[in-house]
Amino acid sequence: AYNAIRTLSTGAPDIQRLTVFGGGLMGAGIAQVAAQAGLKVAIADLSDEALENSRNIITKSLTRIARKKNPDDSAAQKQFVDGVFANLTTTTSAQEAIANSDLVIEAIVENLATKQELFRRLDGMADPKTIFASNTSSLSIRKIAEVCSDDRRKRFSGVHAFNPVPQMKLIEIISTTETQPEITEALLDLCKRMGKTPVQCADTPGFIVNRLLVPYLLEAIRMVERGDATAADIDTAMKLGAGVPMGPLELSDFVGLDTLSHIARGWREERVQTGEIDAKQVEEIKILDKLVAEGKKGRKSGEGFFIYSS
Ligand code: NAI
Repeated sequence: AYNAIRTLSTGAPDIQRLTVFGGGLMGAGIAQVAAQAGLKVAIADLSDEALENSRNIITKSLTRIARKKNPDDSAAQKQFVDGVFANLTTTTSAQEAIANSDLVIEAIVENLATKQELFRRLDGMADPKTIFASNTSSLSIRKIAEVCSDDRRKRFSGVHAFNPVPQMKLIEIISTTETQPEITEALLDLCKRMGKTPVQCADTPGFIVNRLLVPYLLEAIRMVERGDATAADIDTAMKLGAGVPMGPLELSDFVGLDTLSHIARGWREERVQTGEIDAKQVEEIKILDKLVAEGKKGRKSGEGFFIYSS
């Protein structure tokens, strides 16, 4: 049910209308969970095909949830899916998408200049109260926000969700030195309403999860390259010895070897000289680059360190 009347302590803004820019894998997921929580959601993307892709991703995910909820009741399943879609609109017009929006979450390509270009444009169009957020995994929130006005930067935050969004409980809320506390509070509240568990952190490379995870995955890949152990044995060792549900090579395949390589390169080029990241942690790895060059990007391409049948 749509509950429009809410007040937060300390006068933090109440977020009821969300605009998601970029309806790909992540944007569609974020839009879905927000619409499920009763928010009014607009998805903006560049083309009608992209928006159709977005609706397809959401339909597939909602259908799966509906079947679980009401295994033998197709009318109830349809009602659930339609109910969520009643909260969703899609558009290729940025202007239309952003009208009356309390919060914009950007989930477009992982490229600083492209994200800055979008936010520069949106800053000029959006209501002064609209909160801006980026779902970036590896870029600096401060840098993305740099193109916005002084006042907007106070209402700018990272909102980092995890793939697949409908299943993954965590959202990292990243505050820059300029983000106002009431904005952070409003975003934490929103995450909880979406059934997620938020954590708060500073605007440092990789935030919490990737800061710890990326160097670990890269070191596991180096172990394979050096011939210290096979990928299968490293995964078995970590699963049974450290209690992780997925070994580091399988997890690398799941994340995408291209994505991992892209994050490492970004940190190498932009975070090492600032002293934020130790150069050793992100050194180039031949075996990783080779797999990516061969199109073996992990699970999504059917092969990475392991071969996947579907
Ligand atoms: P994706 O490639 O699936 O989707 C990106 C979408 O953005 C596409 O539909 C594209 O048409 C659209 N787009 C590109 N430029 C646009 C613009 N100027 N205006 C509107 N739409 C535009 O990418 P994905 O995987 O969803 O990633 C999006 C963001 O989320 C990236 O910043 C990525 O780093 C971050 N992220 C990705 C995760 C993942 O596991 N894939 C996890 C957490 C964050």
